[in-house]
Amino acid sequence: MAHDTLIAPSLLSADFTQLHQEMQAVEKAGADWLHVDVMDGHFVPNLTIGPPVIKKMRGATSLPLDVHLMIETPEASIAQYVEAGADLLTVHIEACADAEAVLMQIKDAGVKAGIALNPATPAKEILSVLHLVDLVLVMTVNPGFGGQSFISEALPKLSAIKALCAEKSFKPRFEVDGGINGTTIVDARVAGADTFVAGTAVFGQNDYAQAIRGLRAAMEI
Ligand code: DX5
Ligand code: ZN
Repeated sequence: MAHDTLIAPSLLSADFTQLHQEMQAVEKAGADWLHVDVMDGHFVPNLTIGPPVIKKMRGATSLPLDVHLMIETPEASIAQYVEAGADLLTVHIEACADAEAVLMQIKDAGVKAGIALNPATPAKEILSVLHLVDLVLVMTVNPGFGGQSFISEALPKLSAIKALCAEKSFKPRFEVDGGINGTTIVDARVAGADTFVAGTAVFGQNDYAQAIRGLRAAMEI
């Protein structure tokens, strides 16, 4: 079933020794997208997975792969992530020397392009590329680790960016990532988010279907 609001479980909190089963379990549990956190140990102080693993993941699910690149000089490896099967590639504005060129590179390769910004990064940093993006990712934690507390101060920025997009008739999705649970998802939705990454709030629960249903239900209140 297609939803207006999307839940994207973050595999960072999955059991990596059981990745195939975990992916199948969240797909069956009603996830809309799979959020894949790529960390390079430089842009963030943590290291995860790269194109070879994503390529295997592509063959193990029919869900869109929402690939969040927390890496420096993303332009050097965009082609590999596209070839691996990413459906959407999001790069950080803080990591791009020329964000417009990187986003064009992603789009020219035929996949959707997203721009992410850290909690401390002001909205003005991404204004010049809003016309290019399919998704704006407003980080609600400092990237690098799952299980951190939600930074609500990032939400007014999301609302402001969304208002600017509406003025110009740009229609990207608005994703939030970090500290999303049954309470914070409501605030994020009210601020204008429509796509919700959830690591701990899904994979930290015993029943993934119940966890995803709970997040959706919270937004309907
Ligand atoms: C953090 C990652 C997130 C993380 C979210 O750098 O980008 O996707 O997995 O985890 P939770 O939902 O546990 O905050
Ligand atoms: Zn992420």
